[in-house]
Amino acid sequence: MAGKIKETVKADERLRSVAIIMDGNGRWAKKRLLPRTKGHEKGAAILEDVLKAFRDIGVRYLTLYAFSTENWKRPKEEVDAIMKLAYKYVEKIHMDRLRDEKALTVRFIGDTSVLPEKLRNKIAEIEAMEKDDTFVCNIALNYGGRAEIVHAANELVAKGLPITEENLSRAMYTGDMPDPDLIIRTGGDFRVSNFLIWQGAYSEYMILDTLWPDFGREDIEKCVLDFYKRRRRFGGLDKEDES
Ligand code: IPE
Ligand code: IPE
Ligand code: MG
Repeated sequence: MAGKIKETVKADERLRSVAIIMDGNGRWAKKRLLPRTKGHEKGAAILEDVLKAFRDIGVRYLTLYAFSTENWKRPKEEVDAIMKLAYKYVEKIHMDRLRDEKALTVRFIGDTSVLPEKLRNKIAEIEAMEKDDTFVCNIALNYGGRAEIVHAANELVAKGLPITEENLSRAMYTGDMPDPDLIIRTGGDFRVSNFLIWQGAYSEYMILDTLWPDFGREDIEKCVLDFYKRRRRFGGLDKEDES
């Protein structure tokens, strides 16, 4: 990922949490007459740079949609390739922990219990490690927003807790984290594809035509600068409306 982020692009308390629907790997490969798995390979290879870029601008939580509960519908060879890449890059990113300051906590959201054993073991190893929340990367693997809500509701029932917004929020995989301020989708499609449907109720959306393997610093700058132009009202009125 070439270049540096402009000094002016800094995340403040308005932009603590960013989530990304990393879409377009297949189309990236198709354009080059390559098998879809090559697109996934390139898409995974840029992850570390993307993480560094968001950390450097000061975002605290980055949530990446890597594999959805619906992605099992794809051909077995493609699913197997994605799982292998998930293992390879989860390990690599974690080993590196973004080098210098070791300031990265990797977490996972989704039902990881059905993932291949080797990957599950790696996840368990990472999750058992000490955490700090300087910079948290959530990897959504076998994640579905509907499944997550059902899971959270069942947990409340099992504990005999009332179904309230607060309790449900806390029972989500992201229970101890802020909701995403900004959700970016690459690949140009205007849809949510079952990603963070509870947490994204008031998120700002950015849809980019860039295909995920081409996602770079310029795209990040564009998203952040656009985010700061938005007026988030959360259903209320802002100062200008009141006068
Ligand atoms: C996103 O890229 C990666 C995963 C869903 C795992 P796609 O594989 O969906 O790429 P397109 O949308 O077909 O181009
Ligand atoms: C969303 O992309 C899932 C991930 C990026 C992991 P999809 O390619 O699966 O979404 P649809 O099928 O186009 O809605
Ligand atoms: Mg897609």
